[in-house]
Amino acid sequence: MNKIKILVTGGLGYIGSHTVVELINSGFEPIIVDDLSNSELFILDNIYKVSGQKPKFYKSDICDINSLKSIFEENKDLKACIHFAAKKAVGESMEKPLLYYRENLVSLLNVLDLMKEYKIHNFVFSSSATVYGEPEHLPVQETFPIKKALSSYGSTKQMAEDILEKVAATRWLNALALRYFNPVGAHLSGLLGELPKGIPSNLMPFITQTAIGIREVLTIFGKDYNTPDGTCIRDYIHVVDLAKAHVYACNFLLNGKGNLPYDVFNIGTGEGYSVLDMVETFERVNKVKLKYKFGERRNGDVASIYASSQKANEILGWKTELSLDDMVKDSWNWEKNYRNQ
Ligand code: NAD
Ligand code: WQD
Repeated sequence: MNKIKILVTGGLGYIGSHTVVELINSGFEPIIVDDLSNSELFILDNIYKVSGQKPKFYKSDICDINSLKSIFEENKDLKACIHFAAKKAVGESMEKPLLYYRENLVSLLNVLDLMKEYKIHNFVFSSSATVYGEPEHLPVQETFPIKKALSSYGSTKQMAEDILEKVAATRWLNALALRYFNPVGAHLSGLLGELPKGIPSNLMPFITQTAIGIREVLTIFGKDYNTPDGTCIRDYIHVVDLAKAHVYACNFLLNGKGNLPYDVFNIGTGEGYSVLDMVETFERVNKVKLKYKFGERRNGDVASIYASSQKANEILGWKTELSLDDMVKDSWNWEKNYRNQ
């Protein structure tokens, strides 16, 4: 039987590569388009090592509609698209708003235009918990208000969700926006993981790079937040659990289960952990001492945010399987493996 083909933009990136593996494991045929602007070609070989299959890969910028059209032309039997490709550095987005609006929105519009032209109706979008800003209640539910984003990055995700809702209302598109909380961890094999460029701004790569000696010391941003230990609380989710949510989302769309042309789902664990919890868990599980100090609060950080994932649990049938211990163990394993290659 022919496998169902799914276009995966940004499929060599951190979340995309793990999702490609899970799609293959579930019997789908992912087709990857990635311009390698934030990934490396060896990830494609490692996808093969992990899954036993080497997906069709196009090195192409999806902001270039002509090259993207040739990919759609060659793959007329696509049944869905998962759209990861985007720029994602919050700090950089404040310095280069035009770059972020262009990259994140032109790419989305190009994909949607071609999906319409080639009659591909199912779309899964990478959104972010950042759309909520500072929530008034916890855990965060999908019905909570979306406040004006502080960063240009967050603004592109809010605008993208709005675009999807309006386009889906015209009834040719079924779209799901998955609002990821804080993805960490790596593939159990140690062959796939996050590849941050330069100094990491996210906590987990900063922790692993400090542990391995690339960074001298981890600065914990703020110790006087209104939280039990004074450091910020987030909902960290293992990237493999997050990747699997995309398989559930595709199955949901392809089986025509949605009553709505557009819907949003939080993808988190429902548990909140502080920065100090992360440091302590990393040290305990990996038996590594981490050098850290306290610094000023970071601009734009919210004190606490964690998800209610009840909607995704009940409607998509998805739930997380991996623990915080798995997250810190797999992140560390990946860092060591990657540096020793
Ligand atoms: P990533 O940078 O590792 O992956 C994105 C991939 O897209 C990269 O491989 C990059 O080379 C590719 N890409 C970027 N622009 C492209 C373009 N114009 N054409 C073709 N390929 C392009 O990022 P990630 O962490 O895997 O994130 C994937 C998606 O999830 C993004 O949309 C991001 O905004 C969203 N997201 C990420 C997080 C997170 O913390 N990692 C949280 C919430 C949402
Ligand atoms: C986590 C916690 C920091 C680094 C960001 C984006 C969000 C989403 C996920 C894309 C915070 C603290 C961090 C460090 C620290 N990405 N920290 N020292 O800010 O929750 O979310 O990534 O959509 O949009 O904003 O994640 O990993 O940067 O920070 O103390 O060196 O770790 O203050 O409390 P964040 P993060």
